[in-house]
Amino acid sequence: MTEAAMTEAVMTEADEDEAARTGAAASGWVPAPIDPVPDPWPLHGLVLRTGRLELRPDDDASARELVTVLHDGVHRASVMPFREPWTEADPRYLGRGVLQYLWRERMSLSPEDWSVHFVVRLDGRVIGLQSVTATRFAVLREVCTGSYLGRHFQGQGHGTAMRAAVLAFAFGYLGATTARSEYFAGNAASAAVSARLGYRTDGTRLLAPRGERVVEQRMVLDAAGFTPPGPAPEVEGWTPELAGLLGAEWPLTSTEQH
Ligand SMILES: CC(C)(COP(=O)(O)OP(=O)(O)OC[C@H]1O[C@@H](n2cnc3c(N)ncnc32)[C@H](O)[C@@H]1OP(=O)(O)O)[C@@H](O)C(=O)NCCC(=O)NCCS
Repeated sequence: MTEAAMTEAVMTEADEDEAARTGAAASGWVPAPIDPVPDPWPLHGLVLRTGRLELRPDDDASARELVTVLHDGVHRASVMPFREPWTEADPRYLGRGVLQYLWRERMSLSPEDWSVHFVVRLDGRVIGLQSVTATRFAVLREVCTGSYLGRHFQGQGHGTAMRAAVLAFAFGYLGATTARSEYFAGNAASAAVSARLGYRTDGTRLLAPRGERVVEQRMVLDAAGFTPPGPAPEVEGWTPELAGLLGAEWPLTSTEQH
């Protein structure tokens, strides 16, 4: 029996259905030809521009620049603004840990559970990270945000502008209906950003990132309550493939929402 005959003999009806569905049967090749070839990572083209800031999902080059900014310091040693005290890592391995974290996040991204970590640039220079995450977005329509800036770039309005940019994207393009954010009691800058953008309080919970009890303040923002500090960001790279990757509907544009 030839190899082709053996393959035919073991092909079940389900295999044939699958082959017909993917086009493999018609072409006789696997993987089945598909035209145009779909973008394997639609996040690549996404850019949010607002004022002097540009936000793009992390890639290896921008993540390395981010590590350099981190080594200048993000917060005083006397406070810990993050749930995971990752900034206290051995400085020799902090950068490797940050890259591995971002790679893991990219690796496990799915429409059901995703994180997009936007590297933020000011006039082309990396200054911080603005993250947006969602679980079961297609059903829940909710995003959570988190962010940090290198210490030299704090207190100049950039934190407000970058959070506002991703909120405008989430509400206006993804179709989110709520956004959440948390900060530890005493984080005046984060609290002020949330207040400025229209969030309301939504209870507290207790955590111990450094083994000591801290109060986390939960904040929630409805799409209708969002008070952007300036014009909506310019969004490039919003495609049906990206909408599918993030569990969002297509088409849904900023103009339809607002
Ligand atoms: C939190 C953070 C992203 C905010 O960004 P930022 O650029 O510093 O904040 P902005 O300059 O946009 O300021 C926003 C508001 O906070 C106020 N603010 C900023 N720093 C402040 C401080 N240290 N104390 C009190 N208020 C402060 C500003 O006056 C402004 O208020 P306004 O809108 O009423 O004028 C940034 O400070 C940071 O990275 N901090 C360290 C990491 C961190 O705490 N991340 C958040 C974890 S929840």
